[in-house]
Amino acid sequence: MAVVIVVGAQWGDEGKGKIVDLLTERAQMVVRWAGGANAGHTLVVDGKKHVTRLIPSGVLRAGVTCVLGEGMVVDPTVLVDEVRGFRAQGFLARHQDLVVAARAHLTMPYHREIDRLRDERPENSIGTTRKGIGPTYESKAARTGVRMGDLLHPERFRGQLARQIEHLMPLLTALGGAVPDATEIAAHYLALADELRPYIADASKLVHDAIVRGDNVMFEGAQGVLLDIDHGTYPFVTSSSSTAGGACAGLGIGPTKIDTVLGIAKGYATRVGGGPFPTELTDATGDLLRKRGNEFGSVTGRPRRCGWLDLPALRLAVRTSGIEGLALTKLDVLAGLERVRICTGYRLGGATVDEMPLDIDDLAAAEPIYEDLEGWPAAASSDTPPSATKAATRFVARVGELLDRPVWATSWGAGRSETILTYDPFAPDAMV
Ligand code: IMP
Repeated sequence: MAVVIVVGAQWGDEGKGKIVDLLTERAQMVVRWAGGANAGHTLVVDGKKHVTRLIPSGVLRAGVTCVLGEGMVVDPTVLVDEVRGFRAQGFLARHQDLVVAARAHLTMPYHREIDRLRDERPENSIGTTRKGIGPTYESKAARTGVRMGDLLHPERFRGQLARQIEHLMPLLTALGGAVPDATEIAAHYLALADELRPYIADASKLVHDAIVRGDNVMFEGAQGVLLDIDHGTYPFVTSSSSTAGGACAGLGIGPTKIDTVLGIAKGYATRVGGGPFPTELTDATGDLLRKRGNEFGSVTGRPRRCGWLDLPALRLAVRTSGIEGLALTKLDVLAGLERVRICTGYRLGGATVDEMPLDIDDLAAAEPIYEDLEGWPAAASSDTPPSATKAATRFVARVGELLDRPVWATSWGAGRSETILTYDPFAPDAMV
């Protein structure tokens, strides 16, 4: 048995969903610990595309329990939509396939409105997903949050809803927002509660029990380490802990229960929303990566900013999450380029730095130092697929060498079969 945390090692959208989905073959439980409907994990199975926003990527595996942990913020309208969609396709067939923490906080319509109204103001804009994530966490920290379990107690729910609205009214008024209709919101949310009731439980205890039982448990990170509220590129971050430590805090699981932390990164870098991005490509190569990699937000549809692989950023992720091995995804997107670049360090104020600085002005001033490597072909020859070419092998090896971490998986396309796994944390003895 193993308890494994998988984190995105960049700014999100690293292709985590697909790798997590592959690893779940041997997992009994897949757990999300933070964030909410700002995430969008794309999975392609048998040529069919599935996007999950709240439910962890294990959803496509029969017998896997998917857990939405206490540290999450849940928009029940999105969740019910997602549950209905998956159930209609035959997934989540048993009630025990899904657990939603009673203590997860609820995103309300006015949280989404505050998020949108704020982000529309250029002076405030950090390019959020406008799903109400930040404002929901603000209510939680202000101790005026309304939680999933409150939905099961209608009177309590109505009282807390009224209290939360009262608390947020000055902000809503200042932003020019509408006065929320508490009666309408309560009716809508309590109707959704009827559908969610079978899933609402003490997630922390259930995950703990699974670990004690000896199940294989995977904690699946949403967003990426560089968007972490404490250790990311603040203020251009999300409002939760996306580093590996957040998994323990988000589920109330002690760090002594975790066996390993694995990271996932793309062979290049992308970012949505604002904030400094030292290796950003604003030229034709950037456009090419965007087009080939289909780098448009799966939640918002926004074009993602694209750039070369940034090792100083990855080193920060490796250090702050204790990443022991790295998966490299979307290497097919780089195929066909004559030259592929890796940023190995930054030049900053006359010095060379090898880890991303988190002071926002330093980061904006950092100049990438590149190492150029030969590209690999796009088209597979019958005996040598692109993944097996000398140039591709060299790129993967060089990333591992520069990070001082093994690369345990590489991905060469969207489908399950286009991944080379050299290590499976749930079957370490069975792998090459
Ligand atoms: P929020 O999480 O919606 O508050 O957005 C804050 C920042 O995090 C913005 O730059 C978003 O684009 C980014 N972000 C949030 N979730 C994701 C994700 O799942 N992938 C990539 N970026 C994200």
